[in-house]
Amino acid sequence: MKLFMKIMASVGIMGVVLATSGFAQTTLKDAFKNDFLIGAALNEAEFAGRNTNTVAIVKAQFNSISPENALKWESIHPRQFGFNFGPADAYVAFGQKNGMFIVGHTLVWHNQTPKWVFQSDQGSRTVERKRRPVDRDILLQRMSNHIFTVVGRYKGIIGGWDVVNEALNDDGALRQSEWEKIIGPDYIIKAYQFAHEADPKAELYYNDYSLENEAKRNGAIALVRKLQAAGIPIAGVGLQGHYKMDWPTNNQVDETITALSKLGVKVMITELDLDMLPPATKSQAAEVSMNFALRAELNPYTNGLPAAVQQQLNQRYADLFAMFVKHRDVVSRVTFWGVTDGDSWQNNWPIKGRTAYPLLFNRDGRPKPAFNAVLQLAAAVVP
Ligand code: XIL
Repeated sequence: MKLFMKIMASVGIMGVVLATSGFAQTTLKDAFKNDFLIGAALNEAEFAGRNTNTVAIVKAQFNSISPENALKWESIHPRQFGFNFGPADAYVAFGQKNGMFIVGHTLVWHNQTPKWVFQSDQGSRTVERKRRPVDRDILLQRMSNHIFTVVGRYKGIIGGWDVVNEALNDDGALRQSEWEKIIGPDYIIKAYQFAHEADPKAELYYNDYSLENEAKRNGAIALVRKLQAAGIPIAGVGLQGHYKMDWPTNNQVDETITALSKLGVKVMITELDLDMLPPATKSQAAEVSMNFALRAELNPYTNGLPAAVQQQLNQRYADLFAMFVKHRDVVSRVTFWGVTDGDSWQNNWPIKGRTAYPLLFNRDGRPKPAFNAVLQLAAAVVP
């Protein structure tokens, strides 16, 4: 509380007053070194070293990395008897070489998981096999094999895993995913048990979007309690942080971090980006399968971001970081979902081919005013 008063006294209760010129000399990771890790999600061109511009930013500014796609089931285990470790190996090698905290994302999810996982390989003809869902025991075996193989390979190297991703509906009930339908609700506990056994020292996280909304947050709280009651050492909950300009409110973020911290787990912001493009849907969900048609009015900033919108973005980032710093006792990491605006998945989701500006570095790798706003916020906080 004392810290919060200091922050509010330094930054002004009505929000942070931001200078518009001059970039601070420090880096993100240094500015928040007493608060939390600062991470970025990397794509293959980055961790394989091809995108040298962005690699330089990552080395200078970040002390944690997440794999944007390389460790998802469809990438690392595309065929039943075939793992594709190349990109994931390059990802962890990048993190090791640069002394970073390496995150694993993600083991069990309803998206980016190949169809074969849920299909029986019994039956004489391909059509017949495709129609038949696999049975519970076999799916559990597949899940166990996947988790032991992937977590085992990076044992002692990947520091923390998003074991289960997005298992909840907006109302807080369990999502009726193939995992849930075929195995039943205990698939979640099983996934954490396998992961813990595969690497007892790795931190285990639950990761989801929209936990800032009360109903879904309550679902996550119930889920964490259930895991704890089953003896699972769950270390943290990840708030994805795919935020809009008007959602969630600072208050919602505040309440969510406070509520989760009462469970005795860390809170991480795992996929932060800010969407200021016109909404394609009323939904706040970061459901990756959403896909809407491109219309000119939904893509207004193809020639750059107007100063007024830029200013709103700066303020929003500063307000969010003030909130994260306020909760620095429990917030252990803030990870951006990408490095430069050009890399961001928001250029292609939920509409393909837009020009998005959700991150702190612009398309040619220069820090944006929002970068400065975040650093100024850090500087305003009394350590
Ligand atoms: C996204 C990636 O950024 C895209 O490249 C990919 O096409 C789809 O997935 N929630 C998550 C992330 O947990 O894994 C998603 O990443 C974004 C939403």
